[in-house]
Amino acid sequence: MTIPNELTEQLGTALKAVLGDALPSEFTVPAVSVAQDARYGDYQSNAAMMLAKRVGMNPRELAGKVMEAMDSSLASTEIAGPGFINFRIHPECLAARAGQMLHDERLGVAKAAQPKTIVIDFSAPNVAKPMHVGHIRSTIIGDTLARLARFLGHTVISDNHIGDWGTQFGMILWGWKNILDQAELEKNPIDALLNVYKQVNLKCKEDETLLPLCKAELVKLQGGDEENLSIWNKCIAVTKTGLQKIYDQLDIHFDYWLGESAYNDALSPLVDKLLADGIARESDGAVCVFSDGYHKPQEDPFLVQKDGEWVPVPAIIRKADGGFLYATTDLATLDYRTENFKADAIWYVVGAPQEKHFKQIFDIERMRGISGDFRHVAFGSILGKDRRPFKTRSGDTVSLQDVIDEAIERATKVVEEKSPDMPADEKAAVAQAVGVGAIKFAELSQNRLSDYIFDWDKMLALTGDTAPYLQNSYVRVRSIFRKIDGEFTAPETLTLSEPAELTLARLLVRYAEVVPATLDDCKPNLLAAYLYELAKAFHSFYEACPVLRSEGETRATRLALCELTSRVLKQGMGLFGITMPDRM
Ligand code: ARG
Repeated sequence: MTIPNELTEQLGTALKAVLGDALPSEFTVPAVSVAQDARYGDYQSNAAMMLAKRVGMNPRELAGKVMEAMDSSLASTEIAGPGFINFRIHPECLAARAGQMLHDERLGVAKAAQPKTIVIDFSAPNVAKPMHVGHIRSTIIGDTLARLARFLGHTVISDNHIGDWGTQFGMILWGWKNILDQAELEKNPIDALLNVYKQVNLKCKEDETLLPLCKAELVKLQGGDEENLSIWNKCIAVTKTGLQKIYDQLDIHFDYWLGESAYNDALSPLVDKLLADGIARESDGAVCVFSDGYHKPQEDPFLVQKDGEWVPVPAIIRKADGGFLYATTDLATLDYRTENFKADAIWYVVGAPQEKHFKQIFDIERMRGISGDFRHVAFGSILGKDRRPFKTRSGDTVSLQDVIDEAIERATKVVEEKSPDMPADEKAAVAQAVGVGAIKFAELSQNRLSDYIFDWDKMLALTGDTAPYLQNSYVRVRSIFRKIDGEFTAPETLTLSEPAELTLARLLVRYAEVVPATLDDCKPNLLAAYLYELAKAFHSFYEACPVLRSEGETRATRLALCELTSRVLKQGMGLFGITMPDRM
């Protein structure tokens, strides 16, 4: 059990002992949290402040009584401010926990008590439509959530729900037949398709007779026309091959690629069912779902305020012309996932602008009586240094492939400078790890809901909260073991006495708390901030406490702290899909 969980339990027992029957039966002890100010303790609780009034006591008085009644084997306690209880973990207890970590390949991280089946829907670019920078965020955050959830013992199904059946195919089909450059298609299929799409898009703006021709191609495709189906199949195939190349470079894998087209046959029966069940109704020839009044207007995704009044914004699930929409596909997809994958949870890693869409989808599921841990894991935008959406010099969206290529090129320079004598193949491997790691860490160290500025120099810097800094820290720790020829045997017991040893041990032991908390909130930045703090604490420790020049128990303890630091850094960064090279 993690330290805060154990303290929370002990608090509960103490509260019962102090208050007896006066303890309200429905009261749950608030979880003990990390102390805001390390000078006063390691953890703190506001339980006494929350309860005092209800049991007619002064908070400090209650806190005092609880402290007396508390099991003191794990931590010493102190009252602070208006009635906080602060806990300071005994050094022997930290030493014992750190000692256990040495023999545990999970480094103290317990598996989830109730493992779930979680579908994670991420990346999901649209075929032949520009892969916007948002897909970098979705791809990297989604992959990390999948890794974290798997590590915590959940069954994870990663599904790339690519946009392979949109209206863009009208333009692509017309373009394929009329302007496609076959040579270009063979050389660089994704770009060739993208070019076709962009060109036709432009032409449609100049010449209004073109759009109907594109629409006719789309209708033929939807009607099962063989030629169009075969072109469509080719488009999907080349897109998948191109995407796979990127995913391989990023070390990202999907269990399924069930794109939008996989649900075509399910759409019509689904709409009929929603109509029959009275959840959807016709409106101006279209089929729509309206608010059922379940929420307050402010929280109702089917209402918007206009001129001081609430007006309906229904979810359209079938257009008057019979066509289906994004929402229809998502409803069918959700059905498939709950029925076939038996998903308890479905997490959609998609940009914040789609908030309303997902609220409506989840609400329609509620109306249908389908429940689960459905989450829209939203994120903000990536900005350029000018604080405007990140674009290339010519104003185009930045392709993920270009970002990866440039990152590796820049990382190669970093490695060249640091280790000119490294063999070429090792240099290449390190540059790959550093470059890809830099992009991933720059993403994951941000609060996903905020926008962030894409800054090459910052993300590749060897100082600050960057992948190269953490990778370099790892290299420094491992180099200590090279000096002792790798000989390291875990000591029976650790003895912690120096403040820097204690600070490092405290952080190491917290790893077990941070990993599950990171998944609970789908907030990779919690783990990223922790790893950065750990690396900094290691450097302070290494400056204050000689390792190789110390002796006996002290040396054994310090080597063990180094060993644990390197294991936590490697495993923690591994949960981000970031490789830690042994040298760089
Ligand atoms: N293809 C969509 C886009 O590029 C994202 C799909 C997200 N997943 C979903 N089930 N709607 O915006």
